[in-house]
Amino acid sequence: MNKRDTFYITTPIYYVNDVPHIGHAYTTVAADVLARYWRLRGRDVFFLTGLDEHGQKVQQAAAKAGIDPQAHCDRLAPQFTNLWQRLNISNDAFIRTTDKQHQAVVQRYLQQLYDKQLIYKADYTGWYCTYDERFWTEKDVADGLCPDCKRSIERLSEHNYFFKMGQYQERLIDHIRTHEDFIRPVSRRNEVLGFLQTQKLGDLSISRPKSRLSWGIELPFDKDYVTYVWFDALVNYVSALEYKSGLERFWPANAHLVGKDILTTHAVYWSTMLMALERPLPHSIFAHGWWTVDGEKMSKSRGNVVDPNAMIDQFGADAFRYFLLREVPFGQDGDFSEQALARRVNSDLANGIGNLLSRTLTMIERNCSGSIPTVPTDYLDSEAARAKYPLLVHVKESLRTLEDCLDESYESLAFNNLLLHITSRVSEVDTFIDKHEPWKLAKDPDKRDELEIVLYTAAECLRILGLYVYPVMPSTAKNLAEQLGISLDFNSPLLRQKITWGSLPGGTKIRKGNALFPRIAVAEAATNILTGHEAKLSKPQGAKPVSETPASPQPAPVTPSPAAAPSPAPATAAPAAAQPAQIGIDDFMKIQLKAAKVLSAERVPKSEKLLKLQVSLGSEQRQIVAGIGKKYEPETLIGKTIVIVANLKPAKLMGIESQGMVLAAGDSEVRGLATFIEDVEPGTKVK
Ligand code: MSP
Repeated sequence: MNKRDTFYITTPIYYVNDVPHIGHAYTTVAADVLARYWRLRGRDVFFLTGLDEHGQKVQQAAAKAGIDPQAHCDRLAPQFTNLWQRLNISNDAFIRTTDKQHQAVVQRYLQQLYDKQLIYKADYTGWYCTYDERFWTEKDVADGLCPDCKRSIERLSEHNYFFKMGQYQERLIDHIRTHEDFIRPVSRRNEVLGFLQTQKLGDLSISRPKSRLSWGIELPFDKDYVTYVWFDALVNYVSALEYKSGLERFWPANAHLVGKDILTTHAVYWSTMLMALERPLPHSIFAHGWWTVDGEKMSKSRGNVVDPNAMIDQFGADAFRYFLLREVPFGQDGDFSEQALARRVNSDLANGIGNLLSRTLTMIERNCSGSIPTVPTDYLDSEAARAKYPLLVHVKESLRTLEDCLDESYESLAFNNLLLHITSRVSEVDTFIDKHEPWKLAKDPDKRDELEIVLYTAAECLRILGLYVYPVMPSTAKNLAEQLGISLDFNSPLLRQKITWGSLPGGTKIRKGNALFPRIAVAEAATNILTGHEAKLSKPQGAKPVSETPASPQPAPVTPSPAAAPSPAPATAAPAAAQPAQIGIDDFMKIQLKAAKVLSAERVPKSEKLLKLQVSLGSEQRQIVAGIGKKYEPETLIGKTIVIVANLKPAKLMGIESQGMVLAAGDSEVRGLATFIEDVEPGTKVK
């Protein structure tokens, strides 16, 4: 990112007639986190999000509802603005492409390009997808379906206006090559370069005849046409600056955050439009990955669209924000499940920073009359103190090192790595407390100084950790500061200067409140008896907050994060009430079932349900972890020939790799393993 004092960050502008989902929330939360961090660091930030309101889909939906398209947009826009409020999104402006000022800017830019003869009129015949609002060429189209959305397409022939995009091909390749950060992550940069280097870049149709689509911005040079919705939408990134802040102050953008599916429109259409308009290109376009839901593509037809409002209701905005950025490296695809979210909240937040705050404040309440102890800071810098408190030196140093890495983490959008480091610092403070055993020190009047030093250190670490978590969990950071008894103005550049150790004033009255993150009671998940994988409950009533374990002066266990959530369960594990979708023979044939002989079996430590089996498939041996331990003693299985799914992606269950799954009858309880009447050779195919 560039090193100027300003920071301009954008999200895509979302289609107004979409129902807000986890994908929208993801980009917007990521942008918010960057905006909040750079404000803390003292940069002049402009954070823009908004709505894309023109185009065929809006026109059609409005017609269906029997209302004017503008009224339709006005009715739908609050779905997004309300969600952003609930998610604590701190955008500086909200643009709607139906804003009069935006429309004027689009028309001005079109006129400029037209006057420079960079827009021309021509005939065009091609395959048009109404859903994606774009033409496809003959070679793109197979079976009369849109290559993108697989919906049917129509052959259209019309006069249109074209932007001479093709002439910028070489310049764009050169720009991408010479600007390392222009397209990120690097895999996406290579994709775009690969495409530009092997295919001829055509010109871009930037108009639609009003006879077909009237809901759009009229071309300034031909009133029979409206502007193509992507040309209109992309201009938002500069038009918003023109009428909401001042173009020169913030352009070029530091980062446009987009999903991977809309990278081309940004990297190619937008970049060449800017070249034609003689404006500098954004510093960076970052394409993030997509979320699947329990292993499946999210879609309305599957009925698995994740509603961010429901997640906020159930888990709270901060926990949801944390999960989105912690679970998956930004740039990669990830899988969402409520189980994984609940586990993450418990392991990282309730047992992590929440527990650390609660135990620290409880001990201060009990042993220091509810005030932060005053400690001799001079003494703490002495050699004697360093020798006596090596762990204190370590946590202090460790927090400082993390501070030194913050800029770099945010510059590289390495949110998940940063959050991982923050949680590991929380564990270090826990270990520091455990090692000094303040509950014992409290019983010995001669150890009063040590007790106070330990409790002060814990509280001071929490103050600093609060600053670190603020961008991702703003309400939590405020709550944490309040409970420590300090007032921090997070709207001011608190991280402009280096953090000074010891700024938490001794004598401050703490205000211990509720747990930052009540532990979530994760429902006894319907464990897939076949695999031991936990099945997703169709309507998870399970994850409801329960009150925190009463604070105790005893050391709270430093709970290691449980292993990453196992891969989602296959459809067979769906709850009984849900009628499984029918599948064709082709789908069934994808599943490779085989006879397998059990060579050895043992219980997985600390699990009632899981058995670890070594099985032979004739030519190879596999390890399978199966949730059949309540029904079978391991030794009774040895020598049996059972049925396994041989081509299931390996997954880890309680840290143990499982390379397939066994078939068994039953639902949440195993009734019997599938075996054979005859003797069957291990490795024989089953169908
Ligand atoms: N209106 C255009 C963007 C114009 S920007 C000048 C648009 N809108 S959208 O409503 O479809 O928003 C799509 C955004 O949501 C994209 O960034 C897309 O990648 C993201 N996602 C849609 N589904 C997603 C997931 N399942 N997971 C993550 N993000 C996903 O495109």
